[in-house]
Amino acid sequence: MKDDVILSVKDLVIKFNLRGRILTAIREVSLDIFRGESLAIVGESGSGKSVLVKSFIGLLDENGWIDSGKIIYKGTDISQYKSEQDWLKIRGREIAMVFQEPMTSLNPLKTIGSQIKETVILHSRLRSKAAKRKSIELLEDVGISQAEKRFTQYPHEFSGGMRQRVVIAIAIACNPSILICDEPTTALDVTIQAQILDLLKYLKVKYNLTIIFITHDLGVVANIADRVAVMYAGDIVEIGKSEEIFYNSQHPYTWALLSSLPQFAEKGKFLYSIDGMPTNLFNDIEGDAFAPRNKNALKIDYVIRPPYFSISPTHKARTWLLDKRAPKVHPPNSIKELHKNWRGNH
Ligand SMILES: Nc1ncnc2c1ncn2[C@@H]1O[C@H](COP(=O)(O)OP(=O)(O)OP(=O)(O)O)[C@@H](O)[C@H]1O
Ligand SMILES: [Mg+2]
Repeated sequence: MKDDVILSVKDLVIKFNLRGRILTAIREVSLDIFRGESLAIVGESGSGKSVLVKSFIGLLDENGWIDSGKIIYKGTDISQYKSEQDWLKIRGREIAMVFQEPMTSLNPLKTIGSQIKETVILHSRLRSKAAKRKSIELLEDVGISQAEKRFTQYPHEFSGGMRQRVVIAIAIACNPSILICDEPTTALDVTIQAQILDLLKYLKVKYNLTIIFITHDLGVVANIADRVAVMYAGDIVEIGKSEEIFYNSQHPYTWALLSSLPQFAEKGKFLYSIDGMPTNLFNDIEGDAFAPRNKNALKIDYVIRPPYFSISPTHKARTWLLDKRAPKVHPPNSIKELHKNWRGNH
């Protein structure tokens, strides 16, 4: 991994006003993203994955705002951007995003070709003919055969996987530096998922992309990510290289997440699920947000928010279990089984 940081999030706090009540969705997140890496963000539903990345392109819902903190992109604090005009300098051009459901990004009434071409023309100085040529090249790049014919077809004439390829083509059309993929394969079946992941790996090299990949599926993570950030209740509770998260995770929430993986569970065995309710983000959170769901929680977990403890220069976790004074707690056995299965599969 190269050392230079392309995007740096510092103490970011994001809030929403929901009918007069304030919810804190992102709670002082700091994160450096390195140029050329692929970073996966994992965590259960509602942990803040989408809100965090949407704040990088000025796409927070109207009732949300950046309350404090910074988002430094290539040296500029973009968290200060207010106008759509400002964001258009970043969104698409510098940081592009692919969403879960391709149909939300495509216009059903326009041909695939015209939609790609529009983006190409908007972001380049190419005229119609050259833009068409470039669009066809893009379609070929994302693995769509007979691109010239496909250019004239409508979204409904494409399968789900092919539509997602088109959306990816549009995303890379303006040569962004960062490509954010928010669960881009969740709606697709497993074989197609694997093909899309292969495509992203190919494009990453060809277009020199930094990739931020959001997923529920840790199998996907192992396939694509250099590093993994684990989010819980609007915070990154553990971050490290993929191997560090898979083989040496330290946060009890990461353990629970790994143990709940369906693809690693042995056939016929009980699938571990994470006990308790997700944290209520309307409340002020004292101590470690995960404490009420952690059977090894310490007293201090209910009082003081844990700092990051570093496990290696590239791996850190926010849990008091890593404090020298804490009793030794071992990861659950299910994780060891998982490692055995995992090694067997890879
Ligand atoms: N417009 C909004 N108004 C109020 N609350 C919101 C809004 N958007 C997001 N939230 C809240 O912010 C929190 C984080 O949401 P987010 O969409 O980032 O979760 P996520 O990790 O992406 O979940 P999923 O895996 O289900 O996509 C959730 O509690 C969610 O309810
Ligand atoms: Mg989401």
